[in-house]
Amino acid sequence: MNKLNIGVVASGRGSNLQSIMDACAGELIPARVAAVLSDNKDAFALERARRASIPAFHADFDSFPGKPAYERSIINILNEHGVELVCLAGYMRLVGRDLLAAFPGRIMNIHPALLPAFPGLHAQEQAWKHGVRFSGCTVHFVDEGVDTGPIIIQAVVPVRPSDTAEDLAGRILEQEHRIYPEAVKLFAEGKLEIDGRKVRIIA
Ligand code: GAR
Repeated sequence: MNKLNIGVVASGRGSNLQSIMDACAGELIPARVAAVLSDNKDAFALERARRASIPAFHADFDSFPGKPAYERSIINILNEHGVELVCLAGYMRLVGRDLLAAFPGRIMNIHPALLPAFPGLHAQEQAWKHGVRFSGCTVHFVDEGVDTGPIIIQAVVPVRPSDTAEDLAGRILEQEHRIYPEAVKLFAEGKLEIDGRKVRIIA
């Protein structure tokens, strides 16, 4: 089977990037990480990519006149590396119209809550403060909204009375590292079909 080329866009430590790289390297998914991009030059995600000899790029938002030009530079890099699926992994900017249009139905994101609950920033803390008994994580396709796109996979974790927000975030992260590679695998195998708000998983 031909390997799917993935581009990962991350803003921070890149542990989800690592889970995808590991799954590719271990041949658990028929894919390869072809390029890693970050809007943060100090993102550890870039270092993880370099250590694995994967092309790593810093796209400096402030050096562009606006979002369209910034996204155009990202699109160019993704295209130059033959990227077929874009995985946002802790990318802390809203995806604009240009990037969405360049990869229709081919941008995924991981969010550390059970969407549609607790979209946006600090989702784990939002859930913990709200006093929910369960939270979790969601892999979804990206649309023009904030964490609103069609849901691919979710995982549920309990919230224990003694938990701090950090305890909960750690429990959720373990599941993120499990379900993101799983979602990428389904995509790489051609098993995901978007049908309006829903994603059908073809057996
Ligand atoms: C992850 O928990 C991810 O779900 C979250 O940022 C963290 C990045 O960690 N993403 C968002 O909150 C996006 N709204 P990582 O850099 O170690 O993968």
